[in-house]
Amino acid sequence: MKKMWAGRTSGQTDRIADDFNASIGFDSAMYREDIRGSIAHAAMLAKQGILTEEEYECLAAGLRGIEEDLTSGRLAIDPQAEDIHMFVESVLTDRVGETGKKLHTARSRNDQVALDLRLYLREQTATVQAELLALLSATLEQARAGQDAILPGYTHLQRAQPIVFAQQMLAYCMMFERDYTRLGDALARMNYCPLGSCALAGTTYPTDRAMTAKALGFTAPCENSIDGVSDRDYCIELGSAFATIMMHLSRFSEELILWSSWEFGFVELDDAYTTGSSIMPQKKNPDMAELVRGKTGRVYGNLMGTLTMLKGLPLAYNKDMQEDKEAIFDSVETVKACLRIFAPMVRTMRLHRDRMYEAARVGFINATDLADYLARKGMPFRTAYGLVGELVADCIRRGLVLDTLPLAEYRARSPLIEEDVYEAISLETCVARRISAGGTGPDSVHAQLESVSEFIAKAKAR
Ligand code: ARG
Repeated sequence: MKKMWAGRTSGQTDRIADDFNASIGFDSAMYREDIRGSIAHAAMLAKQGILTEEEYECLAAGLRGIEEDLTSGRLAIDPQAEDIHMFVESVLTDRVGETGKKLHTARSRNDQVALDLRLYLREQTATVQAELLALLSATLEQARAGQDAILPGYTHLQRAQPIVFAQQMLAYCMMFERDYTRLGDALARMNYCPLGSCALAGTTYPTDRAMTAKALGFTAPCENSIDGVSDRDYCIELGSAFATIMMHLSRFSEELILWSSWEFGFVELDDAYTTGSSIMPQKKNPDMAELVRGKTGRVYGNLMGTLTMLKGLPLAYNKDMQEDKEAIFDSVETVKACLRIFAPMVRTMRLHRDRMYEAARVGFINATDLADYLARKGMPFRTAYGLVGELVADCIRRGLVLDTLPLAEYRARSPLIEEDVYEAISLETCVARRISAGGTGPDSVHAQLESVSEFIAKAKAR
């Protein structure tokens, strides 16, 4: 196929080279952004007297027609076109004639693609934020439901101290809040308009970059034309924020997988988010959670790939940069898909409080509380710690727990221990006594629930 850029060369490229060079297979996803940018550009050219008003009207109408036809399916993307920018421009010229050839005045594909990608990712990131809010709400609901469900909190995956289920869910809420604001930070930093940077050095035409920046919803134009066309920091920042979301989802997945196992049995995932086995009739597998955990790897990989692609590039544009899109598009689609499955999976999950309580009862997770009890009665904490350790070892040998060890035996170890010890080490007391700010005690949990629901209300009002 004869190229639009034929001239310096014959434009007669090898068919295999064409396929290799083409990006139309993935950058056609940005056709709306491409057209939106072109209309804003043409409007600016007309306002600056570079195009006539009639020429602008003709271009804008032609571009709108292409957008409508692509959206309705009347016009199909030509896989032979090199990229979406060339495709739109050539269809435009076919449709409106010579005027179509004026659209690319004072512009290059270098600033055009940089613009399209920013517009596209800005939109997509807002969608990811909305999906995050849905997951945050679902997790908050489970926190509310689990305010008095006591279970062991773990360190090293060993039973550690009693917590309420709400506290664990709220920990995830905190992560999702950070994910949400992290995306917001990246959006604010990337919201500068590269259009008008042209190939790399700006242009000889009297353009008005502030006008296009404003029309396209940017804070301002990028300040430096070389940076405008070379910068892909936003792919890195968003890619990293997406990788962090996936890391959070993956940790949550891991817990759901463990908790829904026969061994734990703390939660049960709804049938809608599980699968069966083709051979073992008894199975209920947490495939969705496993897949989310698995997909985390490719989102990390996309980030690493883009960082590596950029590291050796001299300024300004290099074709290597075409590789940015598949990576970040894949991350966007993966994160959206994972959030979309995760929110309803969390919302419909059932808690098995009895199993949680049972696990909390037998793990000596009130040992710290017994040491605190002795310390309150005057024994130095480190001494109390040692005494309780010996008591635990003793109980394990005899198949007892601290709650069932007779008072006489406690008193033989320390006369500081009285009848009130049983109340002091009951799981309910252990939780209620965790009064420190941010702890698993009821006041703290209540404050966290309030704060998360305020976060959601504010984010939704924005
Ligand atoms: N398809 C190209 C990309 O995605 C568009 C920019 C092409 N610019 C150029 N000078 N060849 O990066």
